[in-house]
Amino acid sequence: MSQITATFMALALCFAPAVGAAATLSARRPLRGKDTLVSAQGKFELGLFTPAGSSGDRFYLGIWYKNIPDQTIIWVGNRVSPLSSLAFAELRVSAEDGNLELVGPTGASAAPVVVWSSNLPSPLSPGSNNTAEIRNNGNLVLVDGGNSSNVLWQSFDHPTDTQVPEAWVGENKLTGEYQVLTSWRNAQDPAPGMFSDTVDPNGTSEIFFMWNRSRVYMRTGVWNGRVFARMPEATKNTIYNTTYVETPAYRRVINELYDNATITRIVHDLTGQSKMYIWMPTSQNWQILWTGPMLQCAVYALCGAFGVCDQGGKLPCHCPPGFAPVSEADWMLSDWSSGCRRRSPLTCAHNGSTTDGFLTLPDVKLPDDSLAVGAAQSKVECESACRKSCSCQAYTFSNGECTVWHGELRNLQQLYMDSDNPGSDLHLRLSERGLQDLRSVDKKKMGRKLWLVLGIILAGVAAVGALVILAWRIVLARRRRLVSMANENVFSLAVYSYGDLRAATKNFSERLGRGSFGSVYRGVLKQHKGDNSIRVQVAVKKLESFGRQGDKQFRMEVSTLGCIQHVNLVRLLGFYSSGDEKMLVYEYMPRGSLDGLLFRDDTCLSWCDRYCIMLGVARGLAYLHHGCRECIIHCDVKPENILLDEDMSPKIADFGMAKLMGRDFSRALTTMRGTVGYLAPEWISGQPISIKADVYSFGMVLFELISGRRNSNGYSEVEVAGTGGSESLTFFPVWAAGKVLEGEVGAVADPRLRGEVMSEELERACRVACWCIQDEEEQRPTMAQVVQALEGAVHIQVPPVPRTLQHLVTLT
Ligand SMILES: *[C@@H]1O[C@H](CO)[C@@H](O)[C@H](O)[C@H]1NC(C)=O
Ligand SMILES: *[C@@H]1O[C@H](CO)[C@@H](O)[C@H](O)[C@H]1NC(C)=O
Ligand SMILES: *[C@@H]1O[C@H](CO)[C@@H](O)[C@H](O)[C@H]1NC(C)=O
Ligand SMILES: *[C@@H]1O[C@H](CO)[C@@H](O)[C@H](O)[C@H]1NC(C)=O
Ligand SMILES: *[C@@H]1O[C@H](CO)[C@@H](O)[C@H](O)[C@H]1NC(C)=O
Ligand SMILES: *[C@@H]1O[C@H](CO)[C@@H](O)[C@H](O)[C@H]1NC(C)=O
Ligand SMILES: *[C@@H]1O[C@H](CO)[C@@H](O)[C@H](O)[C@H]1NC(C)=O
Repeated sequence: MSQITATFMALALCFAPAVGAAATLSARRPLRGKDTLVSAQGKFELGLFTPAGSSGDRFYLGIWYKNIPDQTIIWVGNRVSPLSSLAFAELRVSAEDGNLELVGPTGASAAPVVVWSSNLPSPLSPGSNNTAEIRNNGNLVLVDGGNSSNVLWQSFDHPTDTQVPEAWVGENKLTGEYQVLTSWRNAQDPAPGMFSDTVDPNGTSEIFFMWNRSRVYMRTGVWNGRVFARMPEATKNTIYNTTYVETPAYRRVINELYDNATITRIVHDLTGQSKMYIWMPTSQNWQILWTGPMLQCAVYALCGAFGVCDQGGKLPCHCPPGFAPVSEADWMLSDWSSGCRRRSPLTCAHNGSTTDGFLTLPDVKLPDDSLAVGAAQSKVECESACRKSCSCQAYTFSNGECTVWHGELRNLQQLYMDSDNPGSDLHLRLSERGLQDLRSVDKKKMGRKLWLVLGIILAGVAAVGALVILAWRIVLARRRRLVSMANENVFSLAVYSYGDLRAATKNFSERLGRGSFGSVYRGVLKQHKGDNSIRVQVAVKKLESFGRQGDKQFRMEVSTLGCIQHVNLVRLLGFYSSGDEKMLVYEYMPRGSLDGLLFRDDTCLSWCDRYCIMLGVARGLAYLHHGCRECIIHCDVKPENILLDEDMSPKIADFGMAKLMGRDFSRALTTMRGTVGYLAPEWISGQPISIKADVYSFGMVLFELISGRRNSNGYSEVEVAGTGGSESLTFFPVWAAGKVLEGEVGAVADPRLRGEVMSEELERACRVACWCIQDEEEQRPTMAQVVQALEGAVHIQVPPVPRTLQHLVTLT
């Protein structure tokens, strides 16, 4: 008897699924409870998970990276119907119809039910032999048992919020089904959220980003055969190859890795933006390479009804005064879509009598969906027009026009750049009580401030002590990490030998130029891609005026630079470092630098090229300032550092040098130049510099692009106006700022263009340039704002003439 039991048990064990990881699953081998399925090369894992941070009573079928410590989910099956327990949970091939299905308990009832299924028209094949497996690219497939190349269902046809390489976004033209990336509802709930992206339902190749699956807030531009016109960095980079394919059966966008060892994903996340991440094995974290749209507040209605989006804020959303989040809990989980509501309700009787008042929100971008009220001729009339209707929520009165809003206000945005833009004061309706509460809060705040000051002084003393300890710990931790990093060939950055580079450059024979930090030589290197080796042209920079900086420190800084990739930044390919000798290897830019083209007498860049260069450089700098994990100040923005691609798209060179060179940097810079040129006033006066120093230099470059000549050459009114008379030399930006103020931007443009300019773009460029060179750092816009302004997304006020420069001109 006992022998029989033992034999039986042994048999049962043979047939039970291997605990931990199985290769495939079938009707006879389901996946139970905590078991997982792992792809053949061990990259992806399929199983049941609970979202990180949640209370652990909801279980979802998901796919994640097996070897990445922080579970990173790339696909979820039962997005809206979690299981309540692992007991009796089972992923199986249905013996009845061959579908893949997830069965288990939900809610209070312990009885297992089918919560998710591949939902293929049944019966596929009764008594099915179908099997499911997870492939090396992360695709979960259900295949016909008799014929494994016949894929019946696959997860790539039903993406969640993530697109991994080889997966697609698009439309199945036969079934009419779309492959859409849809954000999670919040950080702990994979149910579909408000934001999604997929191909244009009207059939063009463009990808639309949509709010509530209807309202488009970003378009990538159409596929031009090479890139999506308005998102080149997403589709032309060194990590993967993007293609848009259209056949009678489908149209799809697919990314293919150049190197299958790279781990990367694109996620449509809770902020409504798509972000491309790349896994950095050395630092064990995800690095963001691009986001689209780049600006948080370009996402429609991110902050819900009455919520205000704040591009500069630590959190993207806040409520206006007198309002509070509808759901604090949701806001805590990064789901702001529920928006804000008034702390005390409006008191509006339908006979038209009300005690409600209005609160002014200055400097906001006005929401859409407004109604013009023609009858109101003054602010008072406009206000009373709004007051008369109980559904009226807000009004503005500007330029003699009265506009009111009924219903919920969406897409409010705090602006900074055009702070005195008329029409950006929004008067928001609040109840009498709401307004009173605000006033009393203000008074209390004053009292609290006194205590606060005392508190801060005490806390400061304590904090200094704590900081000293913390700093010491960080130093130790960094040292440890350095040791491990120095030995590795960091992410796609090659380490060359001196011999390699000498051979590549034919013993440094062909000098391309001399920059601030050394000479640059042209070279040709062999690169291995798979089994093939190809020859690539490179530019090798021999660093000079370099102090005795540690090798490890240098390697560390270089490797962080290697991770920075943007279509408007020159790509660092590798480096050589030994003792004092250090070289950097960059991609080769066939057209050389901007100064070579812009200031030459025999060529004249078209306005269109110039504007594209302005935008490209602005985007590149914005990426350095806002897009990288650590903000990078370029410190040396000038035409010599703007290189041009074959198709004239600009790439910024020499970024990160300030970090690489450490203390030697500013010495190298000032001794090289010695003139005022592009340096911001705060730099010259020796104050600490911020990203706004780059903004200043960028403004100077803008003027040169507009005028086609060096700012520092001086400029004579005669040449420009052609009026004759005495010649007086002026520093061009000052003269131009004056013209902009007078509204005569046409006079500022390069005479060689013969008026062939887009006057709207010229106006924009001139105004932006003037704002960029303001004396006060706070008055200058951020590069993100500059991008917005150049794209025409925001209105730009007429800027004042900067004082320092005027002063400077009288000196020379
Ligand atoms: C399942 O596979 C077995 C053996 O491979 C075969 O005999 C049987 O006919 C298959 N059943 C179906 C429905 O294909
Ligand atoms: C297997 O399935 C594929 C795809 O449906 C089909 O093209 C092929 O003919 C099938 N092979 C056999 C042996 O049935
Ligand atoms: C799609 O096409 C229709 C008809 O041509 C047009 O009315 C609609 O605006 C288009 N939709 C989008 C999102 O472009
Ligand atoms: C989203 O769209 C649906 C219909 O498509 C609508 O019922 C719902 O109210 C919309 N949500 C919001 C917040 O407007
Ligand atoms: C990129 O994709 C295109 C289109 O499929 C293909 O022709 C090309 O060879 C690919 N390039 C690389 C480097 O894989
Ligand atoms: C990457 O892996 C896929 C299979 O997942 C394969 O088809 C492709 O050829 C591989 N590419 C390279 C460059 O090795
Ligand atoms: C409107 O109704 C309120 C009470 O609901 C009353 O106090 C007020 O006098 C009325 N006003 C007019 C203009 O009828």
